[in-house]
Amino acid sequence: MSHHYLRFEKVHYRYPDGHEALRGVSFCLHHGEKVALVGDNGAGKSTLLLHTNGLLLPESGRVVVGDIPVERHTLPLVRQRVGLLFQSPDDQLFMPTVADDVAFGPLNMRLPREEVERRVEQALRSVGAWELRHRTGMQLSGGEKRRVAIASVLSMEPDILVMDEPTSGLDRRARQQLMELIGGFRHTCFIATHDMEMVHELGLSMLYMEEGRILRTSADSSA
Ligand SMILES: Nc1ncnc2c1ncn2[C@@H]1O[C@H](COP(=O)(O)OP(=O)(O)OP(=O)(O)O)[C@@H](O)[C@H]1O
Ligand SMILES: [Mg+2]
Repeated sequence: MSHHYLRFEKVHYRYPDGHEALRGVSFCLHHGEKVALVGDNGAGKSTLLLHTNGLLLPESGRVVVGDIPVERHTLPLVRQRVGLLFQSPDDQLFMPTVADDVAFGPLNMRLPREEVERRVEQALRSVGAWELRHRTGMQLSGGEKRRVAIASVLSMEPDILVMDEPTSGLDRRARQQLMELIGGFRHTCFIATHDMEMVHELGLSMLYMEEGRILRTSADSSA
């Protein structure tokens, strides 16, 4: 299924202050693959993930989602396919209530109201946050915010799920729920994490990043 496919081709990215955060990143994820992106603080993981749905666009090279090159004019389509969980949930939540935040994506896709409501309930229940639906983002604890942010990505029912440090700040129960969710996700999943326990428990394959480059994959290390 080509729309679940993600490819980076020699991607370079430099922040406006001149720091070169990606230095020729190439890799490909196939349909249904579940892959962890690991590496030290500052290696470039978040920068890379922000390229998967065009929040950042490469200085050179290209990113392809399915058969769609990620470019300014394809962004609406790309963002329907790639659900991106930010490293900080505060960047994800901005609506008056939790339910509004989780409904935001599906409403933007112009889905019928009943479908939006179904998705909001399902997404919030799947992360154990249904009880929080009438609260505002500002009233939540860090872990609760993370759960709601995850729900707001899930409600888009993306073909490719991209998460930046999803287990950070979660208690045991929420973490377990998230692991089950990722384990049961039928499509492609790409997760930046320092949580090696999760990587091993879920049997994720790995891309190792250092100083803006992919150094090796777990397939390399087992060869
Ligand atoms: N907005 C920015 N402007 C300039 N440099 C930035 C910016 N954001 C990140 N960087 C730099 O780019 C590099 C990669 O940062 P990035 O956030 O992608 O790392 P990371 O691998 O996600 O790290 P962490 O594990 O701490 O989340 C770092 O050297 C960082 O200082
Ligand atoms: Mg990061």
